[in-house]
Amino acid sequence: MAVVNYRHAYHAGNVGDCLKHAVLVWLIRAMQRKPAPLFVLDTHAGAGCYRLDEGPATRTGEWRHGIGRLLHDPPPVLAAYVHLVQSPSSYPGSPAIARALMRGDDRMACCERHPEEASALRSLFHGDRQVGVHCRDGWEALGALLPPHEKRGLVLIDPPFEDTQEFTALAQGLAIGWRRFRTGVFAAWYPIKQRASVRQLMTDVRDGGIRDVVTVELVFREPVDPGRLNGCGMLLINPPYRFEAELPPILAALLDRLGNDEQGQAAEVRRIADE
Ligand SMILES: C[S@@+](CC[C@H](N)C(=O)[O-])C[C@H]1O[C@@H](n2cnc3c(N)ncnc32)[C@H](O)[C@@H]1O
Repeated sequence: MAVVNYRHAYHAGNVGDCLKHAVLVWLIRAMQRKPAPLFVLDTHAGAGCYRLDEGPATRTGEWRHGIGRLLHDPPPVLAAYVHLVQSPSSYPGSPAIARALMRGDDRMACCERHPEEASALRSLFHGDRQVGVHCRDGWEALGALLPPHEKRGLVLIDPPFEDTQEFTALAQGLAIGWRRFRTGVFAAWYPIKQRASVRQLMTDVRDGGIRDVVTVELVFREPVDPGRLNGCGMLLINPPYRFEAELPPILAALLDRLGNDEQGQAAEVRRIADE
């Protein structure tokens, strides 16, 4: 198995996190419209919490183009997300965001393969009986931890995309997870560096027979330079009721704050496969 070099601390709070975490907050709140307990599986969980004011984040400064542009006077549609970020000394990763929203009978399993990140996550949730932290492979967990006994669940898949093979791994992981848990809500983040990998992902998902698939994308410029993060997207399976109606204003607000008015800038919600 390949060694994980990626450390999310360098990228925490960047534009990709802003899209992912704003969508995550919307999804959890939407799923909590029903009182039945909810299970969250975070397959690539990271360390759970990041300092933006020192260490790796200051070396890249990526957060300044992301959450740094939202902290002051956040647009109302992003307030629920931004209010979870108390200060640049503590940016919540996906497990901390989900945990902040969980109710008394909701449950979460976090998988993280990097031992140091998993250890940080364990410390964050030490003694928390509603959260399980597993230092294990997140792809393999899609087969092992699904379906949950709650029968209602959100599966967040957020691989590091260190190489383009991860688009193939994502399509395979979605197919495995969906076959085991057909009613589950799946949310997978992906980078848009060039269109070809993203198009192939959509083809693979459709060819796998997965139904009810929608994507949301923020594109900051024409994706012609594959060496840059030109945009990012999330692929949703079984999106909750009103997703396609309520996401456009969230995307528009993100693009308004995070975009630089470059050619090709766009915010899109697209249906990939019907119900
Ligand atoms: C993009 S980061 C996750 C960020 C996190 N989801 C968040 O939003 O705060 C990806 C994480 O996946 C971990 N990782 C890489 N390959 C993995 C695998 N096969 N299984 C589980 N974790 C993995 C990396 O160590 C890294 O911490």
